Amino acid sequence: MTKSREHFGSRFAVVMAMSGSAIGLGNIWRFPYLVGENGGAAFIAVYILASLFLSVPIFLAESIIGRRTHSNTFGAIDKLAPGSCWKWLGLITVFTPLIILSYYSVVGGWSIEYLIKSLEFKFTAPDVQFDGIFGTFISSAWWPLACHTIFLFVCALIIVGGVKGGIEKFSNFSMPVLFLMILIIMIYSFTLPGAKAGVIYLVKPDFAGLTRTGIASAMGQSFYSLSLGVGTILTYSSYVSKKENLLTSGLGTAGFDLLFALMAGFAVMSAVFAAGIAPGSGPGLIFETLPYVFNKMATFSPILSSVVAILFFLTVLIAALTSAVSLFEVGVAYLVEEKNVRRMPATVIIFFGVWLVGCMCSLSFGPLKGFTLYDKNLFSFLDMISSNFLMAAGAMVFAIFVGWKMKREDVYDEFTNGGTLRFNVKCFPLIYFLIKYVAPVVIGVIFISGLIM
Ligand code: PHE
Repeated sequence: MTKSREHFGSRFAVVMAMSGSAIGLGNIWRFPYLVGENGGAAFIAVYILASLFLSVPIFLAESIIGRRTHSNTFGAIDKLAPGSCWKWLGLITVFTPLIILSYYSVVGGWSIEYLIKSLEFKFTAPDVQFDGIFGTFISSAWWPLACHTIFLFVCALIIVGGVKGGIEKFSNFSMPVLFLMILIIMIYSFTLPGAKAGVIYLVKPDFAGLTRTGIASAMGQSFYSLSLGVGTILTYSSYVSKKENLLTSGLGTAGFDLLFALMAGFAVMSAVFAAGIAPGSGPGLIFETLPYVFNKMATFSPILSSVVAILFFLTVLIAALTSAVSLFEVGVAYLVEEKNVRRMPATVIIFFGVWLVGCMCSLSFGPLKGFTLYDKNLFSFLDMISSNFLMAAGAMVFAIFVGWKMKREDVYDEFTNGGTLRFNVKCFPLIYFLIKYVAPVVIGVIFISGLIM
């Protein structure tokens, strides 16, 4: 293709777009309860170590492939290993993000409904009957489908705007707003009477509470949270100019992602403990436990509690949108570059494909409940195969490809911008070692333990 490719306009834009992909539902509903369940600060310590020594190197491996080739996942691998069967592995990573997007956008749709409910003061009005609100909503047929459709449609609109006009503009604006909102919510949560118990729940280092499963979850969560192994970071890096420093954007993204996860953890758990209830897990934490918390708080300060409820579900929605956009872009980049489809029709094709599978995921809580795979409904099945299996497999492919298939000089050249970045030159042996040896072995172990668990 001779057509000139779009690039992100600045370092700020690169870090905001990548953080947009990384910061998502995983930070808000998974991180807080995983920390609480697995030994508090002990889990956070393992999470940080896993991020530094495993996830960041894999992030860099994806960035190196993406920026070296300025291509979509399939094209990138094909350029670097022409004629080999590696490109078929690249093709898998075109499909994995679309599978994730299909159920992710269903949850994105739920956050639209909850934002609407909080704008109508449904959670903060006195005498609200909470029992079964969430269950009834997700098991009904039409409204969750409509919300899923709206969510995906908004993603499509951002994607049609292009890399600069859509993705960059949206994330440059929404990411700072997201941080501001979570900061306000966290400050509010800290001021609630009894919030201290929530803080203690998260920071108390309990090494005895950290089991082998907990260690594997810390690594898995760090992968999921940094959007690794599905080609999103590769695709976004393909829009990064040759002048940028890949190490800086990788560390910047990992830092923002961790900061946001910690802020969300403190915000959510302080409020939950202040309300004196047991923290739920999974989607239940934000869609069942928190509305109840907002309601309890409303007895003291109805206005403040309503405002915080609105801000909270807006935060969930925006965090989900920026992640979903990155998943969407992988498929669009593939169609545009490999199949010569224009951006608009490519967006429409991906929209309908994902929408259809997403509809089935949404209905799998209600009318299609009886249709199960390995005892799971379609939604949970797709979540399980993508986050336990396909993401780890993708990360392994990227690490092995950079460590064993690409020439060391090429990896060095890309990582150090032709030897001009002094700090990167110094770090290179360590990073290369982590990509080449540590990442494949550790992922292999997580993989096997994940299959056994
Ligand atoms: N990182 C996102 C989150 O924390 C999820 C995601 C995974 C997004 C893979 C893109 C790719 O919610």
